Amino acid sequence: MQNSPYFSQFPAIRLRRLRASPWIRELVQETRISVTDLIWPIFILEGSGNREDVPSMPGVQRLSADLAIEAIKEARDLGIPAVALFPITPSAKKTPDGREACNSENLICRAVYAIKKNVPEIGVITDVALDPYTSHGHDGLLKGDVVLNDDTVEVLCRQAVVQAQAGADVIAPSDMMDGRIGAIRAALDKAGYPDTIILSYAAKYASAFYGPFRDAVQSAGCLSGDKKTYQMNPGNTNEAIREVALDLAEGADMVMVKPGLPYLDIIRRVKDAFSVPTFAYHVSGEYAMLRAASEEGWLDYASTLMESLSAFKRAGADGIFTYGAVDAARLLNKSE
Ligand code: PBG
Repeated sequence: MQNSPYFSQFPAIRLRRLRASPWIRELVQETRISVTDLIWPIFILEGSGNREDVPSMPGVQRLSADLAIEAIKEARDLGIPAVALFPITPSAKKTPDGREACNSENLICRAVYAIKKNVPEIGVITDVALDPYTSHGHDGLLKGDVVLNDDTVEVLCRQAVVQAQAGADVIAPSDMMDGRIGAIRAALDKAGYPDTIILSYAAKYASAFYGPFRDAVQSAGCLSGDKKTYQMNPGNTNEAIREVALDLAEGADMVMVKPGLPYLDIIRRVKDAFSVPTFAYHVSGEYAMLRAASEEGWLDYASTLMESLSAFKRAGADGIFTYGAVDAARLLNKSE
């Protein structure tokens, strides 16, 4: 019947039949975004009772750990399974070697500990990279203007271990040094954390869409040069497959493609090639675009956010990091 010229063509086939009313559209919908797909990135400030707007990310605030805990309880109540934490390191603690990253009493470690103590049900993901801690804003150690790979990996291992000690459930290296996943896995195992999960930012591109994030963590002002010697060239796709293959071989449990919407083709290729849990990061610049246009009245934030999130699912993502996680969770809970 499929091949019959009569049945396979108009007017026997009318695709609009399956679009005619909400119930049938619901019934034949192929992919669906759920609250359980969302990971909420949060910027953490020192002190208590501190809350600051991020000007380039309307609707996003930096929060001290006590206020973050209240916000995270709300996220948990909405059904969000995990949060990802990013610290705002006071500039006095930034050094060329980023040593504060390995201080077991640093802001992120204290925040992780407090969050796991107060909201143990939510998954806590921490970022492994030196950029919040280096005075030059790079993700690794510098010699002249070269970002050193192997020396950086040693520091990342120590950083990962202090985060695991603090109680992080998932260690997420976002630095793009070669060989760091295997080294971090070995360091975690040796330190007694064989069950700590590694989510590798495996295919992370050197993207201009990270601009507002660098404002949010106040690393923009310090960054000398760009990150093109370690983050990927936006023109490449095969290289993403190699990156993911290596990170999986080294022990990554899950992988990430970043940024999000401009790289949906990469998500699809990675998912098809490896069939492993694959995450997307709907990054700061993508979020800022939706917010800015909706503030101008040019786009509707809620519907463009939900459409963006379903695009990730359609491309094969298992979960999505998005600054709109709480907004999306509220919308999803309302529509259920
Ligand atoms: C840093 C890091 C970045 C992001 C997450 N971790 C920025 C960068 O690489 O410069 C970007 C996230 C976003 O733009 O939302 N290691």
